[in-house]
Amino acid sequence: LLIDISEKSLEKGMATIVGNLDRMIAKGTITEADKKATIENIITYTDIADGVVNADLVVEAATENVTLKLNIFKQLSEVCNENTILASNTSSISITQIASVVKNPARVIGMHFMNPVPIMKLVEIIRGYNTTDEVTKTIMDLSVKLGKTPVEVNDYPGFVANRILMPMINESIETLYNGVAGVSEIDTVMKLGMAHPMGPLQLADFIGLDVCLSILNVMYDGFKNPKYAPCPLLVNMVMAGKLGVKSGEGFYDYSESKKAEKVAKMFA
Ligand SMILES: NC(=O)c1ccc[n+]([C@@H]2O[C@H](COP(=O)([O-])OP(=O)(O)OC[C@H]3O[C@@H](n4cnc5c(N)ncnc54)[C@H](O)[C@@H]3O)[C@@H](O)[C@H]2O)c1
Repeated sequence: LLIDISEKSLEKGMATIVGNLDRMIAKGTITEADKKATIENIITYTDIADGVVNADLVVEAATENVTLKLNIFKQLSEVCNENTILASNTSSISITQIASVVKNPARVIGMHFMNPVPIMKLVEIIRGYNTTDEVTKTIMDLSVKLGKTPVEVNDYPGFVANRILMPMINESIETLYNGVAGVSEIDTVMKLGMAHPMGPLQLADFIGLDVCLSILNVMYDGFKNPKYAPCPLLVNMVMAGKLGVKSGEGFYDYSESKKAEKVAKMFA
């Protein structure tokens, strides 16, 4: 059951699913029949209550905004059965805070899939303060059934993935800001020296510089530790509307290609 706010958003979501399935057919990982069965299995709704009424599990993946997510979970708490597991794909919002607006917070859990979801194996499973062992086990087992590798973590700002990734990205921006090295030099050191498939500045562009800034701020506010303070260059770039791939420019220029081949004029 796939729920979104409008028919247009649902069409966009379905088009992404079809595109991903076609890519899997091209690679030989699934057949045309698998694709047909998958699509026939999906029923779309624009009303939350209609979509979740008999669900055993809801995985919320709406826009990363605290007020929006709290409203959705309040609504889910009203319309779902008390035992329905309520999961969130949030990459930075506290699961414990989300659970605080739900009647039975023991069944709220984080299910943080990594982008691109069809390719990345990891699911970070986040236990809120009240999440039970039983709910955690159900979600860990389900993730394995989905062909993923789940990892259980506790609910503190940034969880594990972003707590380690975002300071690395921030430090690479700081390194650029301090004039230690240029964009492609920093990314080349990390790609060839550390065997990272993508340099940290390219990865930041790919994630979205606004998203990186917002996650760093969540950790900075949550831990009250200056080590998470976002680099002023990152803050400036976001204010200037340079958000990375989605805006056409970040550390690289994406006007001709999305492959990060050309360093943005500002850093060239
Ligand atoms: N994009 C990523 O790389 C990534 C990776 C891991 C986790 N996440 C998390 O996944 C979630 C979604 O991220 P995104 O980048 O796809 O966001 P997005 O804003 O691009 O898309 C969110 C979707 O949710 C829909 N939506 C908004 N309000 C809704 C509501 N009230 N009810 C139902 N649907 C609603 C939107 O129409 C849209 O289709 C966020 O919590 C984000 O932190 C994103």
